[in-house]
Amino acid sequence: MKYTDFYEPAAERYTRMQYRYCGKSGLRLPAMAFGLWHNFTISSSYENCRRLILGAFDLGINHFDLANNYGPVPGTSEKIFGEILKADLSEHRDELVISTKAGYDMWEGPYGTGGSKKYLIASLDQSLRRMGLDYVDIFYHHRPDPETPMEETAEALEQIVRQGKALYVGISNYSPKQTAQMEGILRDKGLHCLIHQLRFSMLDQENLPAIREAERLSIGTIAFCPLAQGLLTDKYLNGIPEDSRAAGHSRFFGKEQITEEALARVRALNDLAGQRGQSLAQMALAWNLGRNTSVILGASRSEQLQENVRALDNLDFTEEETARIEEILK
Ligand SMILES: NC(=O)c1ccc[n+]([C@@H]2O[C@H](COP(=O)([O-])OP(=O)(O)OC[C@H]3O[C@@H](n4cnc5c(N)ncnc54)[C@H](OP(=O)(O)O)[C@@H]3O)[C@@H](O)[C@H]2O)c1
Repeated sequence: MKYTDFYEPAAERYTRMQYRYCGKSGLRLPAMAFGLWHNFTISSSYENCRRLILGAFDLGINHFDLANNYGPVPGTSEKIFGEILKADLSEHRDELVISTKAGYDMWEGPYGTGGSKKYLIASLDQSLRRMGLDYVDIFYHHRPDPETPMEETAEALEQIVRQGKALYVGISNYSPKQTAQMEGILRDKGLHCLIHQLRFSMLDQENLPAIREAERLSIGTIAFCPLAQGLLTDKYLNGIPEDSRAAGHSRFFGKEQITEEALARVRALNDLAGQRGQSLAQMALAWNLGRNTSVILGASRSEQLQENVRALDNLDFTEEETARIEEILK
């Protein structure tokens, strides 16, 4: 794929993707979103970032997931995204769902982290400036903050929606109990919690209870790290490639996570994926989409996105395949 100076989106972009209602809302999200947690840093190549974003859009991935602190340095991925948006996608703003978040450490001092109204309102204003936007489609509280009354966080989310700075609000990394609490507070204010974003993959099912609770409350769910940061692909089966996330480019994923025990599971899953006519990445995403509204893909190259969207060609699992997966993951 080569993008010349003038970008024209692929005409067939909406024919390949599935769009699913998010919880009880009228918003349909693509089954696959693209996340900018990695690979949008101060040392990233702008041309590669552009290929990733435009390549995603061409595949029908019209939901982009950001956060105030994505970088490094924090704020960089929003800045790069804003530049690409302005240069190539400004005419397509209404085709896009753009999400950002605040909750983790962003700036120094007491107001740059947590769940206070002071932090969330200021942070979203900064995010909008960095991206050159009037509003985001989804604003998330990035993680629960036990030091801030949940009513205050909810008040901030309410203000953000009432001021038109976000169309919808969501939560991330909340426990089932915290989810029900926040949903109740927002409901009393006449707002709906659109979505819960949580870590979930074949290798990490800790958040299954939170997914079930969200479903019970008609909140959509979107899974992050659906490929366990690359472990659920065939890339680590024969060592650690130089250009991989595990080779030291991330402080969140390293060689120590690629254990023999994990690899034994990955090998068995890879064999099963082959029998289904899929790559392991495709099978892992298909499995995840059976449990969530959507998944957020990360990628260092747009070819990975092209491979991953083909998971949609086979989302079904036979009883035997499901039993085999459960046995492998036991
Ligand atoms: N709410 C939260 O607290 C939170 C936390 C974490 C993430 N997130 C969101 O979730 C998004 C996705 O997270 P993630 O990047 O960890 O997702 P992931 O899908 O688990 O991992 C993505 C990485 O896997 C590798 N990969 C992807 N497709 C591949 C393929 N077909 N073959 C080989 N390798 C492949 C690439 O790594 P290489 O660099 O090795 O090529 C890619 O960067 C983030 O961008 C962010 O938006 C949210």
